Amino acid sequence: MAVQTIRWTGNAVRIIDQTRLPNKLVYINCRDVDTLWHAIKELKVRGAPALGVAAAYGVLLGLKDFKGSSSAQLVGRVCEVCDYIGKSRPTAVNLFNSLSQMQALALNNVDKPVAILKAVLWAEANAIYEEDRAVCRAMGKHGATLIKNGMTVMTVCNAGGLATADYGTALGVMYAAKEAGKKFKVYALETRPLLQGARLTAWELMKNKIDVTLICDNMAATVMKTKGVDIIFTGADRIASNGDAANKIGTYMLAVLAQHHGVPFYVVAPKTTFDLKIKTGKEIPIEERKPEEVTSFGLRPTAPKGVKVFNPAFDVTPSGLMSGIVTEYGIIRAPYVKNIHKVLLYDA
Ligand code: MRU
Repeated sequence: MAVQTIRWTGNAVRIIDQTRLPNKLVYINCRDVDTLWHAIKELKVRGAPALGVAAAYGVLLGLKDFKGSSSAQLVGRVCEVCDYIGKSRPTAVNLFNSLSQMQALALNNVDKPVAILKAVLWAEANAIYEEDRAVCRAMGKHGATLIKNGMTVMTVCNAGGLATADYGTALGVMYAAKEAGKKFKVYALETRPLLQGARLTAWELMKNKIDVTLICDNMAATVMKTKGVDIIFTGADRIASNGDAANKIGTYMLAVLAQHHGVPFYVVAPKTTFDLKIKTGKEIPIEERKPEEVTSFGLRPTAPKGVKVFNPAFDVTPSGLMSGIVTEYGIIRAPYVKNIHKVLLYDA
């Protein structure tokens, strides 16, 4: 998927404004960290791996106007910027992993001159971007082995090129299967309330000439029952040590339905989406967003004024409902605690 979701221009973070899709493909330049922070908050740039890249580049933005000559001051600025970006959205751990990586690098190089320290941070942010591009392709290759000719696939939210540097996790698997010459069709859930499935996944898959049919979220059960769904792929925002995975609200519902209908359910996510500091999904912070996302459709109100609203942006799928987790190292299967540690820590 050749979309350039995010890139560093030298003095700005250039992103596709995803709130304008599918009607307009608009790029915006975030020239300061405040603009980027709001772009993250408002989902102009979104999806866990893309947020990891945005956070790393955000640190570079935060250093643009640094005029001091002391590296200790520069490191202090890095810490402040990391703290600020860390308050934008709470669930996707990729964002925090990138910030920790940038901050640790700054602290470890505090003895270097300012210019060198800046160059080291610049190289690290670019490495985070390049790594995401590479791992998405590796996940795609592993996951594509699960797609057979003639299969019907289902997905929720957008875990494609728009959610990563440029290729995708769950949709990356579909791109790799297509590149391998396989024929299959996809049901994409629209993904209320912000319609990432309808606006972004349908757009991406159509652009890549993959046979996609859009359905409302509440049609998933009947489609599984009547249309013969063979396999489900979703992304993830944070995966605990036991494999429990937070992803867009509605993913858990899909996993429960998948078990009832005997449909294999796979999560596709890179190492940067794992949080091995937490034991289970109960510890994952779930973002709650503003009620207006639920009480209106575009600018049109669709609910009585003042109605109480619960609007969690993510839910947690227990690993017991998964057939496996597709990573850049291969497919991790149960028992998850043992196998996640074996695969991910062996690499460390
Ligand atoms: O609120 P969003 O649009 O940032 O949520 C994104 C998702 O839930 C994606 O499925 C997830 O980040 C995986 S992206 C490869």
